[in-house]
Amino acid sequence: MVIAIDGPGGVGKSTVARGVAAALGAAYLNTGLYYRAATIAALEGGADLDDAESIAAAVASRRYEFAGEAILLDGHDVTERSRSPEVTAGVSQVSAVPAVRALMVRHQREWVEAHDGRAVVEGRDIGTVVFPDAALKVFLTASAEARARRRAGDREAAGQDVDAIAEALRRRDHIDSTREASPLAPADDAVTIDTTSYDADEVIAIVLRMLDAG
Ligand code: DC
Repeated sequence: MVIAIDGPGGVGKSTVARGVAAALGAAYLNTGLYYRAATIAALEGGADLDDAESIAAAVASRRYEFAGEAILLDGHDVTERSRSPEVTAGVSQVSAVPAVRALMVRHQREWVEAHDGRAVVEGRDIGTVVFPDAALKVFLTASAEARARRRAGDREAAGQDVDAIAEALRRRDHIDSTREASPLAPADDAVTIDTTSYDADEVIAIVLRMLDAG
């Protein structure tokens, strides 16, 4: 059974997906980390981020593995680095490349299969593309202001200015939502939850109630 949790940056997907997975005793997969590791590969490979072919070549030459809550690139843990401002600034361009998406989607499906198909998976295209038959599809939203505030509270964003975070989120959302390949959008059969006035525990409880209600 797959539960898909999609939505824009800073909306609380990781906290909610992790909490739902813990309550169910299911595995948790953060698909954004694959695209972040791919961005490190593109940067290290000297790819031109305006050139899809050079991105695809640099990304395809490396090995990706999600383990625990870490992303490994050629066997090395790059999780911390994957959340740096440099990687965050390039990730939307890299993840818009269809060949990159095809490769990462394959990895994600294999990972879930290796976990007996029981996982809570967070991302942008989980309910629409990666697991269109997911048992439950949740699309989280929140006001731009609430998302910037939540991101500012994240460890990796500590010390960064809230306005700068809001601007970076806006830029990333725009590219993620308007790209041709699997744009960020709710699946037709997704349940949208506006989390602006809820805390993470309340959203987790709402999702668990939906599952109970079948
Ligand atoms: O969830 P995140 O902010 O770590 O994701 C980083 C970027 O990766 C996001 O801006 C878009 C991309 N992404 C994607 O295209 N598809 C996914 N399933 C997950 C993330």
